[in-house]
Amino acid sequence: MLSLLLLCIFTRWAHAALHHLFVGTVNGGSLYVLELDDAAKSLTVLKNLTAAGASPSIAFDQSNKYLFGSRPSDGTVSRYLIGPDHTLQLEGTGEIPASCNTTSFQSIKITSGTQSPYAIYGVASTGTCSTVFSMSITGFRTLKSKEIAGDVHSFAWSPNGEHLHALDSTANSILNYYISGDPDLQSLQATDIVTNATNVRQIITHPVGHRMYVVTQNSNELIDIPLRVDELLEKNTTQTRAYVLPKSYVSDAWVTTSLAISASNATLWTLSQSKAPDNTFIVSVFRLDPVTGAVLKPVARSSFRNNIGDGTKATSLLTPGPTIADGTDLVSFTTYPGAMTAVMGLVHKADGTWGISAYGRAMLAEDEGCCGEGAWVD
Ligand SMILES: *[C@@H]1O[C@H](CO)[C@@H](O)[C@H](O)[C@H]1NC(C)=O
Ligand SMILES: *[C@@H]1O[C@H](CO)[C@@H](O)[C@H](O)[C@H]1NC(C)=O
Ligand SMILES: *[C@@H]1O[C@H](CO)[C@@H](O)[C@H](O)[C@H]1NC(C)=O
Ligand SMILES: *[C@@H]1O[C@H](CO)[C@@H](O)[C@H](O)[C@H]1NC(C)=O
Ligand SMILES: *[C@@H]1O[C@H](CO)[C@@H](O)[C@H](O)[C@H]1NC(C)=O
Repeated sequence: MLSLLLLCIFTRWAHAALHHLFVGTVNGGSLYVLELDDAAKSLTVLKNLTAAGASPSIAFDQSNKYLFGSRPSDGTVSRYLIGPDHTLQLEGTGEIPASCNTTSFQSIKITSGTQSPYAIYGVASTGTCSTVFSMSITGFRTLKSKEIAGDVHSFAWSPNGEHLHALDSTANSILNYYISGDPDLQSLQATDIVTNATNVRQIITHPVGHRMYVVTQNSNELIDIPLRVDELLEKNTTQTRAYVLPKSYVSDAWVTTSLAISASNATLWTLSQSKAPDNTFIVSVFRLDPVTGAVLKPVARSSFRNNIGDGTKATSLLTPGPTIADGTDLVSFTTYPGAMTAVMGLVHKADGTWGISAYGRAMLAEDEGCCGEGAWVD
């Protein structure tokens, strides 16, 4: 009996692992390192590092040697060298190419390019005028697109990294830029309309299937848009839509702010929150077709509460985390205001259905400017 118990404990420990997540701030001066113990299901603040300023959007470069943080207020991007023990050393801050007659933006979202020469790409928006830009890792070479008379604050890559799909929330359209090995950001190949949609909020793409997914903020819909292998939209293609909330929930009372695909590529997660002061969040998980990536059906849903103040102004983001040793896909969630980071896992329940399980929650309430985007190290 005792040996059986010891074996159980040992097995549990053998699978335990620590994972790390950098988290920026929307309006503050720190970058946080959070540590997740996946067996104990605990999330703790490991480090509170001094940053060059706020960094609502953060991204690793392709080699994972540097972390980049963007600052919309002064139109800059800072580079940090990632040291041992998840320390960060500020190496420099560069200005993004001036656009829209300003160097001060409302939002900047950055991500690493996925093909050589692996620059950092971003979209910057004043709310009414936007630009797509890139910056070499050294910061010396910058490029920008023509100005876009709209609000672009989200973009995603095609599987081969040769197409950048930028979402314009004003026109409810998706701009398809061709990115060659020697890009100039001038080749806008197509502008596709998200049919019958308003307030499109975030776009992601499938890592292998040729497919884009968009969530709409006010109508709380997930729109699934298949593409041809050349990443262009067939004009007669049906854009499939799913309501992300339970059917009985009135759309007017909720906003949907984010979506993410899990590391196993098997599920797509959406995040919604109430506009009312009851501060409720709803996470919905949809199964994807393993080959095409098409959205199949909702498999799990969960709600939880946190202080978020005015729900209509909140920025809350999902970020895919690792798949842990027992096969559970983790997804993290950061919110501002509310200063919270939480980790959730999709677990197989005894009755054969799926459920969302909490893997830890960190409150960073001493820092009201927390939390911006998260980025998992391991
Ligand atoms: C930038 O300034 C120029 C010259 O004043 C003006 O023609 C143009 O419309 C401005 N662009 C924006 C996006 O405000
Ligand atoms: C457009 O969307 C609204 C709300 O989502 C829906 O009621 C309506 O039927 C849709 N119309 C078309 C033509 O798809
Ligand atoms: C869409 O149009 C293309 C070419 O015009 C055709 O080959 C394809 O079968 C059509 N697809 C559907 C779903 O109608
Ligand atoms: C998900 O897709 C990415 C990109 O192709 C790939 O690297 C990864 O191995 C896939 N994950 C699984 C579990 O198939
Ligand atoms: C992190 O450190 C800064 C500077 O000392 C401090 O203002 C902030 O409150 C700290 N954050 C947390 C969550 O304790």
